[in-house]
Order: sequence, then C-alpha cells, then structure tokens
Amino acid sequence: MGFKIGLLGLGTVGTGTVQILLNPSQRHPLVQELELYRVGVRSLEKSRAIDLPPSIITTDLDAIVTDPDIDIVVEVMGGLEPARLLILKAIAHGKHVVTANKAAIARYGAEIFTAAEKAGVYVLLEAAVGGGIPVIEPLKQSLCANRLHTVTGIINGTTNYILTRMQTEGGDFASILADAQRLGYAEADPTADVDGLDAADKIAILASLAFGGRIKLPDVHCEGIRQVSAADIAYAEKLGFVIKLLAVAKREDLTTETPTTETATLQVRVHPTLVHTSHPLASVNGVYNAIVIEGEPIGQVMFFGPGAGAGPTASAVVADILNIAAILKVERGAATRSNGQPLLDPLLACS
Ligand code: NAP
Ligand code: HSE
Repeated sequence: MGFKIGLLGLGTVGTGTVQILLNPSQRHPLVQELELYRVGVRSLEKSRAIDLPPSIITTDLDAIVTDPDIDIVVEVMGGLEPARLLILKAIAHGKHVVTANKAAIARYGAEIFTAAEKAGVYVLLEAAVGGGIPVIEPLKQSLCANRLHTVTGIINGTTNYILTRMQTEGGDFASILADAQRLGYAEADPTADVDGLDAADKIAILASLAFGGRIKLPDVHCEGIRQVSAADIAYAEKLGFVIKLLAVAKREDLTTETPTTETATLQVRVHPTLVHTSHPLASVNGVYNAIVIEGEPIGQVMFFGPGAGAGPTASAVVADILNIAAILKVERGAATRSNGQPLLDPLLACS
C-alpha cells in the first residue's frame, strides 16, 4: 500500500517537488511508494514547465483536502488564505500535512499545531525556513538537549542575492530583484523579501522552536534592505565589513540559577547589519543562507546551504513527505523485522 499525495500549488516549489516525485533517483526506497494523486492550481489554462496528466490537475483544492484516498497534503501554494483554511481542513480530514508556508505558520502555527495534535496527524515544515537547509528538524530533535541562547542567520535568499550582487558588481536594485524573481527565489509579492517580512516570519518560527512559546510577529523588530545604497556598501567595504540582512533571536537569562522562560528576556529582530569580513556569515553569498545557533553545552553550530529556489526547497519538501511516509509505514504495521516484530525506527523500515 503506497502513500497518496495531494499537492496544493504547482509553481516554483510545486514543480520542483513534482520533478523529484516523478524522477525518484534518491536513495530512500520509500520514494517508490509515493503517488502524486491530485494537484491543485488556480488556473487550468496556464502553461506548465512540467507535463502532468490533465485528469490529476484541478482548481478544486477543497476536493483534494477532503479526498478520503489522500494520505499527505503538501501545501506549496503560499499566502495566508485559503492556505490556512485548506491546511486546517486537511488536518480535520485526518491528512498529514507538509508545508513550505512560513507566512501561514508564523501567524497561525498555534492554531494549526493544536488542530494537528487533536487529530493525531503530523505537520512538517522543513522547507519553510532556509530552503534546502535542514534546520527545523535539527532544532526540534538533534539540539533539544541544549539550552539555546542565540539564533543568528541570513535567512532570506532574495535579499542576500541582491546585496551580494550590489556589492560585487554594483548594479541596479530593480533589475537584480527581477533576476531573483525569474530564478524563483522571491515571494509572489517580493515586498515580503525586500522589507524583511519573510525573514521576520522565519526568525519567529526559529525562535519559537529554539526558546519555546510563541513569538508574535508584532514583537519582531523588522527593517528591510530598501535603504541600503551602493555608497553604504562601498563605505562598509572600506572599513572591512559587508552588509547583510541578519535575523537574530537572542535569549538573555536574568539569572544563572535555574533560568526559566519567566526569568528570561527575548529579542527577535531583522535588519541590515555590518558584518566583519572575518565572520563566517560575511562569506555567505548569493541565494545561500546560513544559520548560527548557540547554546549550552553544545557551543556553536552553523547550518549553511541554498536558501531558496525550486530544487533546494523541493528537497526539503520531499524529505518531509518521506519522513511521514516512513512513520506511517511503521504505524500501518507494514514494517516488521524478520521475526515479525514491528520495527521501531522508521528509517530501518526502508532498508
Ligand atoms: P508560486 O510560484 O507563486 O506558486 C504558487 C502556486 O500555488 C501556483 O501553482 C498557483 O497556481 C497556486 N495557487 C496559489 N494560490 C492559489 C489559490 N488560491 N488557489 C489555487 N491555487 C493557488 O510560489 P512558490 O514560490 O512555489 O512558493 C510556494 C510556497 O513555498 C510559499 O509559501 C513560499 O513562501 C514557499 N517557499 C518558496 C520558496 C522559493 O524559493 N520559491 C522557498 C521556500 C518556501 P497557478 O500556477 O495556477 O497560478
Ligand atoms: N523568498 C524566499 C527567499 C524563499 O528569498 O528566501 C525562500 O523561503
């Protein structure tokens, strides 16, 4: 028994996701068991970069999230509504959800995860922050033994691409932004990138995971890169700095004795920052993102990789789909040892 996927959106990320699903060359054996079952779009007339049987494409997204045959709904349509309502409806119909939608998660995460908890389904969002960089699952799992105190990152590919090109070749802001849009890095409304709002959504998600609780967007100080001029970049360079749009979340404990969330203050901010050329974040260029996480006892770890674009983002989306499929395989009792006992590690089920 395979896993039926209902895909909401066939734009940059949706197309990248379909490309992986239809050309399963990666090592994870469960990829062969994934079936692209329905695809929801806004317009049936639009020409597509990928050929799909017309029978699976629909503009009736409601029918996808309520379809009893579908196991996993993948929301890569973006925007707040109807994305939020469709995710909630999918959850109410017992579907597991994979989403790349940081805007919806930053605003409605609490509502969505409460609904998922109640329904007993998974909502995974690795693609929502850092494109192809695995950072959400490491924060949730591999770093959970630490008391984290700082998350600092370049987490918007479009603005890093613009700032890098302004620095290396000069060039006009509007035409570089148009390139970022053509390359599929920018949001449908690139204001979200340029004004720092996309990075604010992402740092709110990272801070919520790193420090617990829910970070409200009005509490995130947010400045974009519109005011950064060629002259600013040139002066910074003379002084040995580069200008980067940094997102920072910092917890300061007011006591060193058994600190709790009550005895801590939290700053969460996004703004252009002078970064010394000797700092590791200074050499993160183009669409690349990097996130530095600091805590006790681990010290400092850095995640680095392509932060936007079809392929990298789809890599994270499909990984989430496969992780859910692996868990479902165990839950369905389909993954057993040779002695008939259930396997507890879903990944062993795939070997
Ligand atoms: P996109 O290229 O604009 O694609 C959006 C897709 O969703 C299109 O296929 C569109 O249909 C469909 N859609 C949108 N609203 C719809 C509606 N109301 N009803 C039916 N279909 C609708 O967007 P994208 O760049 O792939 O981004 C998708 C999501 O991934 C967003 O949440 C974004 O923030 C996130 N994300 C993007 C990237 C990236 O690098 N692009 C990286 C990480 C996360 P039509 O094709 O018919 O117009
Ligand atoms: N528009 C976003 C960016 C896409 O440029 O980083 C990846 O989340």
